Amino acid sequence: METPEIYLDAAATTPLLPTVLRCMEHVQRDAWANPSSLHGSGLIAAEALGRFRARTAAALKAEPDQLVFTSGATESVHLALLGAAAQQTPGRVVISAVEHPAVEAAAALLVQRGWSLERWPVDSTGVLKLDQLERLLSPPTRLVSLIWAQSEVGTLQPLVQIGAACRERGVVIHTDATQLLPQGLIDWSSLPLDLLSFSSHKLQGPRGVGLLLHRQGVIKQALQGGGGQEGGLRAGTEPVALIGGFAEALENLPRFDPFTQSSPPGAVSQLQGWRDRLQAQFKSMAGVTVLHAKSTPRLPHHLACLITTAEGRPLSGRRLVRELARLNVACSSGSACSSGTVQDSAVLTAMGVDAALRQSLLRFTLGPWVNDELLDLVPERLDLAIKACA
Ligand SMILES: Cc1ncc(COP(=O)(O)O)c(C=O)c1O
Repeated sequence: METPEIYLDAAATTPLLPTVLRCMEHVQRDAWANPSSLHGSGLIAAEALGRFRARTAAALKAEPDQLVFTSGATESVHLALLGAAAQQTPGRVVISAVEHPAVEAAAALLVQRGWSLERWPVDSTGVLKLDQLERLLSPPTRLVSLIWAQSEVGTLQPLVQIGAACRERGVVIHTDATQLLPQGLIDWSSLPLDLLSFSSHKLQGPRGVGLLLHRQGVIKQALQGGGGQEGGLRAGTEPVALIGGFAEALENLPRFDPFTQSSPPGAVSQLQGWRDRLQAQFKSMAGVTVLHAKSTPRLPHHLACLITTAEGRPLSGRRLVRELARLNVACSSGSACSSGTVQDSAVLTAMGVDAALRQSLLRFTLGPWVNDELLDLVPERLDLAIKACA
C-alpha cells in the first residue's frame, strides 16, 4: 500500500506533539542535572521541575503538592490503592467489572493483605449498575476504584455522582482516568474524588511518566523508599525532561466538563465528527456490528465493533488486526494473549456479550493526526481484511 499507516490506536499510545519534543530537548540540554543537587546545575533543574509542577497543577486546577509524578498510570494506580490501604484495618475494596489489568493487579495485592474484593457489575453498554450503589458503598467498603473511561469499549462512568456518594459515606474513591484525560482537562478542585491516575503517553506526551492526583493524607505510605522525592510519596530522581514534556502536552488539551461528560466544541468535536462518520460507514457493512448505541455515554474518539463474516461467523479480532496492519491500518483488538492462549475479554464478558463473539472485537481510536481522506480508506480496507480472514 502506498499510503502512510493510518494510525487508529490512540488508546494504546499517541505520537509526541512537536512542541513536546522541542520542550524535552531544551530541558534535557539546559536543566539536565539532578534537581536535588545543591549546586548551580541542580538548582536550574529544580527550578525547571518546580515550574513544570506548577504548570501541571494549574492545568488540572490542583495544588502543586497534590501531584505525584510516577512512571505511568500502572504505577499511579498501585500507589493509589496500596498507598491508601496501607496502615488501615482491611475492609472491602470495590472495583468495577471493567477495569484495566493494572487495577485488577493492585486489587489482587490488597486481597493478599486481607482485604475482600467485590466487582461492581455493569449493564450491556458497560455502564455501572447504579442500583448496586447503596449495597456496594455500605460497610465494610472502605476503598473504591473505578475506571472513568473504559479503554476497550470506550464507555464513560458517572464518576461525579458516585464520587459524591462516596464522600457522604466516608469511602475513599480512586479513578483510573487514563483514557479520559486525553479528551479534556479536569478541574481537580471541584471533583468529589480522592485519587486520580493517568499516563502522559496517551495524550501526546512522552512515555515513562504519569501522575497521581491525591488529597492530603489519603496516601498513608509510599510504595518504595529512597531519596524522599515527591513529598516522600515516590522516591527516585525526577525525570525533569519527561515531566516537562508531560506538562507541555497537558496544556494543549481542551477542558472536560465532568457533569455533561463532554468537552466544548473544538478539537474533540472534530474527532467525534470523524468517529461518527466512520461509524455510519461501518454500519452499512456486512459483518460489522458497532458495539454502542449513539446514546451510550462514551469517549468521542472511540469506535468498538464486533466482526463476523457476512454470514455471521465470528472472526478473530487479533487476526483482523494483523490483516489490517498489512493494509496499513493500525488498530487493536480487545482480547489479551497470555501464555500463548487467547483469552476472552473480561470487559465483554462483564457486558454479557455472547461468548462466541468475545474474541471478535476491533477497536479504532482516532487522534488529531487523521483526516477525512485517510479515514475514507478505512471501510474498504476493513472489508478486505474481513474477506481475507473469513
Ligand atoms: C485505562 C488504563 N489504565 C491504565 C493503563 C496503564 O497505563 P501505562 O501502561 O501507561 O502504565 C492503561 C494503558 O493502556 C489504560 O488504558
